[in-house]
Order: sequence, then C-alpha cells, then structure tokens
Amino acid sequence: VFLHYAFFSYNNDMQTLRDVLRDAEKRKVAIGHFNFSDFAQLWGIVRAAVALKAPVVLGVSEGERGFVGARTAVAIVQSLRKEFRHPIFLNADHTYDLDKVREAAEAGFDAVIFDGAKLPLDENIARTKEAVRIAKKANRTILVEGEIGYIGQSSKVFEALPEGAAINSDDLPTPEQAAELVNKTKVDLLAPAVGNVHGMFKGAPNPNLDIERVRAIRKAARVPLVLHGGSGVRDEDFIGAIKAGISLVHVSTELRVVWREGLDRELEKQPDQIAPYKLFREVVSDVSRQVDEHLRLFGGKAPA
Ligand code: 13P
Repeated sequence: VFLHYAFFSYNNDMQTLRDVLRDAEKRKVAIGHFNFSDFAQLWGIVRAAVALKAPVVLGVSEGERGFVGARTAVAIVQSLRKEFRHPIFLNADHTYDLDKVREAAEAGFDAVIFDGAKLPLDENIARTKEAVRIAKKANRTILVEGEIGYIGQSSKVFEALPEGAAINSDDLPTPEQAAELVNKTKVDLLAPAVGNVHGMFKGAPNPNLDIERVRAIRKAARVPLVLHGGSGVRDEDFIGAIKAGISLVHVSTELRVVWREGLDRELEKQPDQIAPYKLFREVVSDVSRQVDEHLRLFGGKAPA
C-alpha cells in the first residue's frame, strides 16, 4: 500500500539538504542517495530525480572522488542544481581519512561521512568527533554523518557475506551506543548497522533488516538515520525501515550492475562504435529506470 501524500514539495532556492531531510522525516519518506563515477550514471540518476520532482543526493566515495575529482564533482552538482532548478545534493561518501574530510568540506560538499564503523566504539567516537570539528571549521553548513556497526565496505556482487559484517541482532549496535556516539560527536546524521550490508548477492535478497532496531535507534539517537547498503534489500524492508525512521537510503551496487549489463549489451549491439555518447545513450536510460523505481519506493509513490 502506497502512502497518499504528495511525493515531495520543495522550494528550489531555499532548501538545503538539512531542510529536505527534515521534510522527509515529517512525511515518513526517504531521500535516495546514489553513487556515480561516470556520466552515464550521473545523467541516469539526475534524469529520474528531475522527472519525479524528487530531491536526490549524489554520492562519491573516496575512490569515486579519486576518479571524478572532489572539486569537479562539486562544480558539476552546483551546475546541475542551477540548470534544473532542482534539489540535487552532493555527499562525500565513506571517508576514512581526516584529510579527505577536510578536502570535501573545503570543496563545498553538502555532506560528508566519516566512516569509523570498523574501529572499536571509543576510537570511532574520538575520530568522528575530530571529523565533525574539521568539517564544520572548513564549512559551517556541511552535514556530517557518523557510522556505527560494521557492514562491509564494497559495492559489489558477492558470494558470501562480507567478513565481520554485523548481521545478528546481538552484534548490531544498541540504541544506547548509537545515542552515545551522536551525543559525544554531535554528528548531524547517523548510519547504524541494522542488518544491512554493502553489496548484494547474485539472485538472492540480502538479509532482513531489523526494523525494531531502526525504530529504537532513531528514538535514542534523535538525528535522522541513513540506511547504507540499499542494493538487494527487499521492498517490504525498505518500507518498514523508512516508516521506522530512515530518512536517506544509499544504493550503489545495483546501479553498477545495471550500468555494466547495459554497457555489455551496447558493445555487442554496436561493435564498431567509438563515440562514448552513442555507446552510453541507452545505458543512461537503464540507470534512470532503476533509480526511478527506487525513488518511487522511497518516496511512497506508486510504481510507474
Ligand atoms: P550498496 O552498494 O549495497 O547499494 O550500498 C551502497 C552504499 O551504502 C554506499 O554508501
């Protein structure tokens, strides 16, 4: 059953990422976050979001930033925002290095994630606190996200769950731990492990999400929650998690798979093609369809 309220309403000139997230929380919908490192992915994401009038966050991990360029990514997103008069935001996804936190903040990203999830909690808290200090000093309005609970690190199709990933409820962070991290670090957003993992199985869904844990963590942490590892998650789990307090959902692997399959098909269809924009034209549509599906689901809108 899809919720019947207006999908998203926004005022282009005024809304920041913080406003858009607050709005999503009120409406009990989530904003989509999609990673990119090439123009086919970028246009596929932007096309779908603009057509649906849905705000969207583009994400570039440390690796993706290394390829696209941090300042280039900011320039592209600022230009898209103006061109389409649409709330398109940029997030410095999974950042492990404090110098890269500073670089993203100085470059003008809307948000940055410091990912200390693999560290013992005390160390995660200490380094995340430092990340918040560094980021806010360089850019007063940037949102900083912290992570708690290890969920693997790669957006790929895997055979077995990432080693060390917290899946069982005994291994998931508790609401008290989540609250401690938020209170001590002053992060704006929190990404807890709630049964989610980065990456996806081939031909099988990912493990179930712990919806009650989402609810309990949201209540204790009192900041908007982010769900990473969106690829392979069942639709019912997304819907339950969003109603329980997730305001932003990350998807990467599924888009990478669609991109690669589309590229393989086009290479076969156009073996002599050397113009990238002709080779990738249909790939953009493939990516866009995938993003459209996710945005409808996250935004409580009926499928196309
Ligand atoms: P997936 O690759 O599992 O969709 O996760 C993406 C993600 O969380 C990026 O931050």
